[in-house]
Amino acid sequence: MFSRLRSDIQCILDRDPAARSTWEVITCYPGLHAVVLHRPAHWCWTHGFKWLGRFISHVSRWLTGIEIHPGAKLGERVFFDHAMGVVVGETAEIGDGCTIYQGVTLGGTSLYKGTKRHPTLGKDVVVSAGAKVLGGFVVGDGAKIGSNAVVIKPVPAGATAVGIPARILPSKAGASADATPEGPKFSAYGVTLEDDPVGQALKGLITSASSQEHQIALLWQAIEQLAARAPEGNCVPQDAQRQGCFEAGKLSDLVGK
Ligand SMILES: CC(C)(COP(=O)(O)OP(=O)(O)OC[C@H]1O[C@@H](n2cnc3c(N)ncnc32)[C@H](O)[C@@H]1OP(=O)(O)O)[C@@H](O)C(=O)NCCC(=O)NCCS
Repeated sequence: MFSRLRSDIQCILDRDPAARSTWEVITCYPGLHAVVLHRPAHWCWTHGFKWLGRFISHVSRWLTGIEIHPGAKLGERVFFDHAMGVVVGETAEIGDGCTIYQGVTLGGTSLYKGTKRHPTLGKDVVVSAGAKVLGGFVVGDGAKIGSNAVVIKPVPAGATAVGIPARILPSKAGASADATPEGPKFSAYGVTLEDDPVGQALKGLITSASSQEHQIALLWQAIEQLAARAPEGNCVPQDAQRQGCFEAGKLSDLVGK
């Protein structure tokens, strides 16, 4: 029981850049409270204590703002980030390592009791803020659902679905850079290194620094060549410019070569 709780806490520390300590997670994360309360609720539901299961789920909803039907199945390390306004239906299944943001509905479109009416999320699926996933289909492992998307059809593993109704985005060439041998690496808010503005800025700085280094090397080469051509005893590279050995335009001619 405690090892499961530890892994629930650790997955929040790993996935939420705002989470700073275990104590903060235990006391301030309704997503954790909802997952912990769902366990007795689900046990009651599957052992014939239906009303008690519903009641625990109702109390949990009141405390956390997340409504998880006691019949729903949750895997390990499921994280409801921000949590408020989430609804998880009776026949929904959420795989290991899934991340679900605020305002998400895993809902049904059929009124028939006893049928699979709600979606099944594979492992490591990210369902972004406000998305609605409606129907008894499968969202494949590692898929991402965009914020406010309305998904009404199955989503293949690793795909990104956005819009209303949701469409599958063509896969990005660099997306595999974020994958690990164990599967795709989690990225908070479904953002990859390719999209991260700080990452992009750093990439730009590194490219510009290396091009400047190249220019400096060319200039240095030019200075040495001019120094070699200068009248004997007059100029050395260090004091060449001070002594006026470089004529305007000459340096740029050499750099261009
Ligand atoms: C789904 C998501 C991960 C896609 O990110 P991405 O792969 O980087 O996608 P891009 O930004 O490259 O966009 C690709 C295309 O999808 C569109 N798109 C992206 N997200 C969209 C969304 N949520 N709804 C509609 N269209 C979307 C873009 O406009 C773009 O369309 P275009 O090709 O016609 O120009 C991202 O949009 C998202 O929703 N992240 C979750 C953020 C979130 O919920 N944060 C909560 C923090 S509390």
